[in-house]
Amino acid sequence: MNVHSFDAIVVGGGGAGLYAALALSQGKVSTAVLSKLYPTRSHTGAAQGGIGAALANREEDHPEWHMFDTVKGSDYLADQDAVQILCEEAVTTVYELEHLGLPFNRTPDGKIDQRRFGGHTKDHGKSPVQRACFAADRTGHMILQTLYQQCIKNEVTFFDEFHAVDLIMKDGVCCGVVAYSIEKGDLHVFHTKAVLFATGGSGRMFKITSNAHALTGDGMAIALRNGVPLEDMEFFQFHPTGIYKMGILLTEACRGEGGILRNRKGERFMERYAPTIKDLAPRDIVSRCIYLEVRDGNGIDGKDYVHLDLTILGKEVIKKKLPDIDDFVRTYMGLDPSRDLVPIQPTAHYAMGGIPANVRSEVVKDEKNTVLKGFYAAGECACVSVHGANRLGTNSLVDILVFGRRAGLSMADYCKGSDYTPLPSDPLGPTQETIARLRSQNSGERTAALRDQLQSVMMDKCGVFRTESGLQEARSEVLKLKDRYSRLAISDKSQVFNSDLLDAMELGNLMDLSLVTVEAALARQESRGAHYREDYPKRNDAQWLKHSLASMSHGAVRLNYKNVVITQFQPQERKY
Ligand code: FUM
Repeated sequence: MNVHSFDAIVVGGGGAGLYAALALSQGKVSTAVLSKLYPTRSHTGAAQGGIGAALANREEDHPEWHMFDTVKGSDYLADQDAVQILCEEAVTTVYELEHLGLPFNRTPDGKIDQRRFGGHTKDHGKSPVQRACFAADRTGHMILQTLYQQCIKNEVTFFDEFHAVDLIMKDGVCCGVVAYSIEKGDLHVFHTKAVLFATGGSGRMFKITSNAHALTGDGMAIALRNGVPLEDMEFFQFHPTGIYKMGILLTEACRGEGGILRNRKGERFMERYAPTIKDLAPRDIVSRCIYLEVRDGNGIDGKDYVHLDLTILGKEVIKKKLPDIDDFVRTYMGLDPSRDLVPIQPTAHYAMGGIPANVRSEVVKDEKNTVLKGFYAAGECACVSVHGANRLGTNSLVDILVFGRRAGLSMADYCKGSDYTPLPSDPLGPTQETIARLRSQNSGERTAALRDQLQSVMMDKCGVFRTESGLQEARSEVLKLKDRYSRLAISDKSQVFNSDLLDAMELGNLMDLSLVTVEAALARQESRGAHYREDYPKRNDAQWLKHSLASMSHGAVRLNYKNVVITQFQPQERKY
């Protein structure tokens, strides 16, 4: 058995994992990062437009305004104690990153530059505010480069291309991780005092998504199988501007810089839906409006897309502030954004739900917020909950940085005051069985076919608009697909870089998460944020101002609920 021992294990090499690892190593805790990808290829790199922080470099701004916008954007489901921390620590975190070397764009007088983003407003909703700190449209990319370099400097150990497959638990304490080496094809045990999951999202559940191939919700699914309920899984965000049919993200900064959405008639339709902030309304609203336009026959050429108009920005702004967007539009569409209108449709982008964690990034395992010792979660795989039912653009980067760093600091404290829990006698047992089963079947169902069907069902029946009957159909189809998954066969039996086996393991994770998402969506008989039920079109605070907690046992989902923390802002009607 390959056994490695480190005081702390971080699973995931994106922004949250790297910031946690940096804080741990600076605290003199021996730390290893396991990453399915080479860390600088992590999905944080796809976060283009900026980090929201009330620096007030361009105009008056305050963390309290940021907090108000985040709570209102969340449709009042976010926990306000956590949002306050998010918005206050955003400011110090951005300056810390600047000092670590992140090359932000600058104002003419040399300060960190800031631009507008959806849902971020001045003085409690009066007009859009410039709050997003950015490095062109490569902000996430720059975060990865900066933090990775700092981790190397601080002697963090990296296990690249290691895919986490299980947690190791003993007497209710988390004491390790089982991981599969993609290069060698063997299993490794990582024995530790504290595990952080910073494993990212699960957008690959859907057919049209901005998420990379690797975003299969591995950490969430592993936690679920180890008895941790997942919180608020019914809330999945669709970003309004994905490249038509491909889903590739065209950052909200396109609209932050002045780009607008137009329908078949050339009309700037968002003026009708959100008269104050128009195209910069929060994502749940803009995505729904695009589909409403399509339903009303206002899609381009009668199809299911509308146009993003960047021509009004001019070549110079596009080249300087949106260079990657220019490149993507030319490469994938053969269009020039300074001259041509760009076809876009909403694309599955971000899981608001995930592994429940408190503001110290400790995983909590029930509605009383009981801490699961030794287990931490941060970033998209976690639900703190700072995004509630709908996340504002730029707040994902704030979340990974603020709570990634907090995770590292809490783990460092915990590691210093605790001993290693001995490993159970056979930590590899269940994983070995799963892999042996997948390898041994010579004929049966194929991963690609099942994955395509799953993604289509989720897109059509559990996407932007949902109904009771559609969700019931989705549930029965996902259950059938899960049954077929048990007869999966892979054709590649080799050890080295066996992507056939990896795809099969990832699909198992997507299946479990899809079922939990559908069940939680079916149960929530109201519309809130990204969860829009056509049969229950109103928000219902009396019954549903609560977080869902979904557990799975023998393939069946059980739902429980817990209270939302409200401190400063009482729920109000959401108007923009
Ligand atoms: O539109 C974007 O640049 C995406 C940012 C985000 O999801 O926060």
